[in-house]
Amino acid sequence: MKKYGIEGCPAYEVFTDEVPAHAFIEKLGDVAVKPSGLTGGKGVKVMGDQLPDLKAAKEYTSELLEKGPVVIEERFIGEEFTLQAFVDGKDLAFFPAVQDHKRAYEGDLGPNTGGMGSYTDAGEILPFMLSEDIEKAKKIMQHTVTALHEETGTGYQGILYGQFILTSSGPKVVEFNARFGDPEAMNVIPLIETDFVEIMSAVTKGTLGNMPVRFSRKATVCKYAVPAGYPENPEKDSEVVVGDIGKASVYYASVYEKDGKIYTTSSRAVAVVGCAETIEYAEKIAQNALENIQGKLFFRRDIGTASLIQKRIDHMKELRG
Ligand code: GLY
Repeated sequence: MKKYGIEGCPAYEVFTDEVPAHAFIEKLGDVAVKPSGLTGGKGVKVMGDQLPDLKAAKEYTSELLEKGPVVIEERFIGEEFTLQAFVDGKDLAFFPAVQDHKRAYEGDLGPNTGGMGSYTDAGEILPFMLSEDIEKAKKIMQHTVTALHEETGTGYQGILYGQFILTSSGPKVVEFNARFGDPEAMNVIPLIETDFVEIMSAVTKGTLGNMPVRFSRKATVCKYAVPAGYPENPEKDSEVVVGDIGKASVYYASVYEKDGKIYTTSSRAVAVVGCAETIEYAEKIAQNALENIQGKLFFRRDIGTASLIQKRIDHMKELRG
């Protein structure tokens, strides 16, 4: 992104040594610190959050450097959202935007997780976004795909996952993944109206630009039931009983079956998805289903509720001034 001048790129460097890493933390003054590599969404620590001050940011950096390279990035303040797209090497077909909830507990408290649940609105933007925000995010992803082709001589074909923070000066990139998001996939895949095989065929042939990919204008709310103690001390090998889930869809995640019964592992166990005309109704469908899943589990009741969404809207209003 830096090389191709793509908008939304954070100030960042990757370090293997402590002295220059600490100097960069001082220079930026407000940072996010991440191990360079996959950590299941649980490795990043952010100042003003898990890292109270510069000293803590430096200490965490030194701890991570003992195991490998570390990314130091400027900290963005805003609301997080995910934009996913099919990519055929040059053209992109975008899904509606999704908001995931990384924190384990209600009120966005507790440790980071792989994602406790997520929602979409009816249409492509989220309630705290403006149309211009999604247009900017789309442009960033389009520019990135073009740059990938130019840089490697090969067009990227598949799913591109853009994780953004919507700041007062527009969307900024946290990361890209060459896959769907979890839980975000469960929100958007059921909304696809166009034939999935035709879409994938267009992805492989490079003809996505000629093909409108349609989504139903419905809101979705996805909530995960996770083992008690997750993510730090998850209750493993504990039975999960899925009762009447009503109109929701259920997706089994990190569970296993033994003698006809379902058991937890150390990760997220079962997700339910409500799909309806409004977020409010979709949330009720998902929440009612969760109430009928028994086991040593917990979940976030607040995901998709009117009060949490209003908090997001107020936060963006305040930031935009
Ligand atoms: N929801 C976060 C991820 O899939 O990376």
